[in-house]
Amino acid sequence: MKKRYLMAPGPVAVDPHVMSVMSEPLIHHRSPQFSSILTEVRKDLKYLYQTNNDCLIFASSGTGGMEASVANLLSPGDKAICVVAGKFGERWSELCQTYGVETVDINVEWGHAVDPAQVKEALDEHPDAKAVFIQAHETSTGVKHPVEELGRMIADKPDTVFVVDAISALGVYDMKVDEWNLDVVVTGSQKSLSLPPGLAVVSVSEKAWKMAEKAKAPRYYFNFLKERKALARETTAYTPAVSLIIGLGEVLKQFRQMGLENLFAHHRRLSGAVKAAVKAMGLEQFPKDPSEAITVICAPEGVNGQDVVKILREDYGITIAGGQAQLKGKIFRISHYGYLCEWDMIIAVAAVERALNELGHKVPLGSGVAACQEYFANN
Ligand SMILES: Cc1ncc(COP(=O)(O)O)c(C=O)c1O
Repeated sequence: MKKRYLMAPGPVAVDPHVMSVMSEPLIHHRSPQFSSILTEVRKDLKYLYQTNNDCLIFASSGTGGMEASVANLLSPGDKAICVVAGKFGERWSELCQTYGVETVDINVEWGHAVDPAQVKEALDEHPDAKAVFIQAHETSTGVKHPVEELGRMIADKPDTVFVVDAISALGVYDMKVDEWNLDVVVTGSQKSLSLPPGLAVVSVSEKAWKMAEKAKAPRYYFNFLKERKALARETTAYTPAVSLIIGLGEVLKQFRQMGLENLFAHHRRLSGAVKAAVKAMGLEQFPKDPSEAITVICAPEGVNGQDVVKILREDYGITIAGGQAQLKGKIFRISHYGYLCEWDMIIAVAAVERALNELGHKVPLGSGVAACQEYFANN
């Protein structure tokens, strides 16, 4: 018998209580009962987002929220600046091009955060850019970009919006959407919201609404203006993912009870322990600007990272993630968000120790686990 653990950076493990709430008999989406749940969820989303902006909910994966942002803010022929520092940064640029938007890519070496000076330079060179697109946390490399600094910089530009993919960041660490002037912020359910896949949430600032009112890119389902109208009637434009929204309500209630500061401290603690274990095992982290959302570990010399992932999944029942694109085989990634606790991290580290030894890279058994235990005992 194999017990399964999900510790990849998404989809994440879901609290069984949340799963059970979602499995209750379905209710109709045009009912007062669902409207009041939806209204409560939107209020709690504002708490999580630290915003007064409207939060729109779509039935899609996170990429749907990204596509919605491009399609609702821009028109064919517009120009946009994209920070491309990994797989998901590339996605912004591809989405813009799909909608006929001219892109100015700021290519950043994978593993590094963008330097705000690079964005300033691009903005100075392209004052007609309508938007700057970025990830808060680039999940493919484990890098955290300086969105606070960038938000303050772009706030001064009346005709440019700042669009942040926070799919693996919102709820993991502090993101003050209003204070930092983040105009559009996208997240998805299967990451830091600790739910199964299927929901995208997008917050929209006043500045972004003004742009959405003028944008001409084609769109149908992903329509901010239609959703705003529906929102005023306490509903959604089309059939929402009822069960997932009910689950979201439960997760947000738990987040509220815990308080944002404690939620962020929890992720910092899990991350701190695993990062201490990496060092103790004589391994290296891949990102130069790491986040507390995930730990990205370089596969040691002579070891293919995909083999580590495979042994964990197939022999030990533990799912972590490997590298994507140019990082395939070179790294492996462990999540700190989702329904996870300190004991899960100890299990993940123990499994990595064993797998590396199996693959011929000698790591003293227990070295990473001891560092984890030490960290948890003292923090
Ligand atoms: C930062 C980031 N952006 C976008 C996505 C794409 O989200 P989805 O797979 O839900 O469409 C992911 C998922 O891994 C992500 O981590």
